[in-house]
Amino acid sequence: MYAFVCFRYELRELARALGVACRRNGARSGVVMSTLPRGVVGLLEREAELARIERVFGRVDAGAGAVVVVEGPAGIGKSELLAAVRAGAQARGFGVLAARGSEFEEEIAFGVARQLFEPMLRAASSGERRRLLAGVAQGGARALGAAAGEPPADRFAAIHGLYWLCANRAERGPLVASVDDVQWIDDPSLAWLGYLARRAGDLPLLLVVGLRSGDPGAERAELAWMVRDSGAEQIKLGPLSAAAVGAIVRTELDAKAEEPFCAACSELTGGNRLLLRELLAGTREENLAACSENVPALHLIAPAAVGTSVLARLARLGTEAVTLARAVAVLGVGAEVMLAARLAELDRAVAELTADRLASAQILAPTRPLEFFHPLIGAAGPGEHRTGGAWRRASQGRCAHRPRRGGVARTCRCAPARVRPGR
Ligand SMILES: Nc1ncnc2c1ncn2[C@@H]1O[C@H](COP(=O)(O)OP(=O)(O)OP(=O)(O)O)[C@@H](O)[C@H]1O
Ligand SMILES: [Mg+2]
Repeated sequence: MYAFVCFRYELRELARALGVACRRNGARSGVVMSTLPRGVVGLLEREAELARIERVFGRVDAGAGAVVVVEGPAGIGKSELLAAVRAGAQARGFGVLAARGSEFEEEIAFGVARQLFEPMLRAASSGERRRLLAGVAQGGARALGAAAGEPPADRFAAIHGLYWLCANRAERGPLVASVDDVQWIDDPSLAWLGYLARRAGDLPLLLVVGLRSGDPGAERAELAWMVRDSGAEQIKLGPLSAAAVGAIVRTELDAKAEEPFCAACSELTGGNRLLLRELLAGTREENLAACSENVPALHLIAPAAVGTSVLARLARLGTEAVTLARAVAVLGVGAEVMLAARLAELDRAVAELTADRLASAQILAPTRPLEFFHPLIGAAGPGEHRTGGAWRRASQGRCAHRPRRGGVARTCRCAPARVRPGR
């Protein structure tokens, strides 16, 4: 856990510089760096990452551009950090362009580039627009349908034009281009981002991208290059500490939540904010008081509570990932790859690669033999593993069942938990 107090002053200064709402582990640490409305937690435990971003801002301000990749599994806080970067950039007076990839728009050529530039072009006065579209940048705008005239005949001319559109904007002052969910961006926009990344050092530009690890879209050569070999600064987000989870439980569920209950929330979710949100929603739905006696009940409802998001996440990784995960669920702890591959009817090499992808997505652990990243994930389809019902539904993009309402007895604070298993 981070040292709480010694950096208090510097952190407050940093947050002020970044213009970011940032809190340290809730009320108990006493290091609250902004006044947020009641019930809103703010950004916890990202001081080190924000400090790195702050240093990059300094370099960009001095004219040396950079690429930053914010990477991590679903729900770990990539989008939230990107939002903090944009807020910090705005507070510094930098220009900000923002876009995000979408699973449903992967086929729309230059869709992400259009998201980035359209608002800027629309808001520009006619004089500004002339400056922005000077030279070959005009061709870039035409490729987006944002300027009159025929779009460039070949893709390179479009990419080069878009580079100049960005460079012309950066000439006005430091600029942040933020692209979230880059694993889903369309190929032409990705080719352009790669081109931009190669030249970012020459401009007062920060290109910051959010990347969900393990997603098949991240394996595209240009993106793999950008992440690993372009010299980009990599920020890999880790889970929240038990103290931060406790602070969230006490802010969002019950200010008097007891320590063992908070500790169980931390253990069950592995400090993943998204899983925690699902777990707290399940707790509310079951009217479960946040007391020590209800820890066993919390364990009972947890697989179904987080199952929805785990299975939806798994479904997005494709059929091979679903069948391999299902095989691991059926085989139980310590499944040999060979065996899981045979059960999933996958080639051994494909199974190995798929297992690596599932590990990046934190569904499987990065180990051999195979096991789930957390037992909770393996239990996401309670009672149905042997038949693979929940996993099969995941492959069809639907959710696991939730426990029957009342499957866990409603309990009140300090009453002994009366737990009945779900189905
Ligand atoms: N450091 C943090 N402290 C407190 N809450 C956080 C933190 N980071 C993220 N959150 C909250 O957790 C939730 C999930 O975060 P976020 O959407 O940023 O995850 P993500 O990594 O972008 O997930 P995905 O891969 O699904 O896009 C959001 O509601 C966000 O506000
Ligand atoms: Mg996100």
